[in-house]
Amino acid sequence: MSDQLRFDGKVVIITGAGGGLGKCYALTFAERGAKVVVNDLGGEMTGDGKGTKAADKVVEEIRAKNGIAVPNYDSVENGEKIVQTAVDNFGRVDIIINNAGILRDRSFLKTSDLDWDLIQRVHLRGSFILTRAAWPYMQKNKFGRVIMTSSGAGIYGNFGQANYSAAKLGLLGLSNTLSIEGQKYNIKCNTIAPVAKSRLTETVMPEDILNVLKPEFVSPLVLYLCHENTEETGSLFEVGGGWVGKLRWQKSSGAMVKKGDSMSPEDIRDNWSKITTFDSPIYHSTIGESTNFCINASETDSAESSSPDQTKFKYDFK
Ligand code: NAI
Repeated sequence: MSDQLRFDGKVVIITGAGGGLGKCYALTFAERGAKVVVNDLGGEMTGDGKGTKAADKVVEEIRAKNGIAVPNYDSVENGEKIVQTAVDNFGRVDIIINNAGILRDRSFLKTSDLDWDLIQRVHLRGSFILTRAAWPYMQKNKFGRVIMTSSGAGIYGNFGQANYSAAKLGLLGLSNTLSIEGQKYNIKCNTIAPVAKSRLTETVMPEDILNVLKPEFVSPLVLYLCHENTEETGSLFEVGGGWVGKLRWQKSSGAMVKKGDSMSPEDIRDNWSKITTFDSPIYHSTIGESTNFCINASETDSAESSSPDQTKFKYDFK
């Protein structure tokens, strides 16, 4: 098909590509012409152990279909080595899919230091280390596409996943800032919160539900976001079962609570319903819009007014 989204000549690193979603991304990118670094530590779901089989099998599958791929067995904690594999074999890095993941679910009080640290090291720090190592190559080429993998557990919270939720929402913060810093180099960074059948979900969801959540219903969004013609950046998407939607922050229009120069807990109590009602929501998409809204509001003296002039920008965030 002439209008097929292609990735010929592009070098893509996919972490945790030995199974689940990562494997699906690897096969699909390779089918569409990309040169793929198939990274997988090959360990257990809890982060214990390691092995070469998982990555090797996916590379074999890609090569059997005349695709181009090399394996890498490093942990994402050593992301520099993964980037080195891309550079040694293909001479460049264009696309990073931060996908590798483990689970160490515990109710909050039972969460050990190791349960906390390992989850942060793999999900959040791993994505940081790998993306930082690839950044200079993408800057030099004035092209880069980065995907962070978040989760509904990060966005909404989930019982027994304090460690994982913190890391997963941290990835959104990382992505938000990378999308700003990457803008002038044509590096776009987006975050997905997928739902799909994999070994991470096999133990928690019934088979009949999992069967409608194919990884093939997530990969098209990832490929679209990584295409050279896609301008989208700094966004968060939920995706699963064939459905795709974009998320954004909204805040209540709030209330001007202070009276003159004073403000008390009772003023909060007396304005609680105004503070928490979403009748006329406000959508800010930059820290400048958000902070200047408060600064402008602070100049409004009347406790009656809750709609300060949003068009005046007092402070320029750069
Ligand atoms: P999966 O367990 O099938 O795949 C994860 C892969 O990452 C495994 O092959 C594993 O060996 C590899 N891996 C683990 N630690 C690694 C490390 N330190 N370095 C390199 N590779 C490592 O699980 P799935 O579901 O495909 O997960 C992919 C990503 O999607 C994860 O980040 C997960 O948290 C996220 N996610 C998945 C959801 C789902 O419904 N499947 C829901 C929300 C988020």
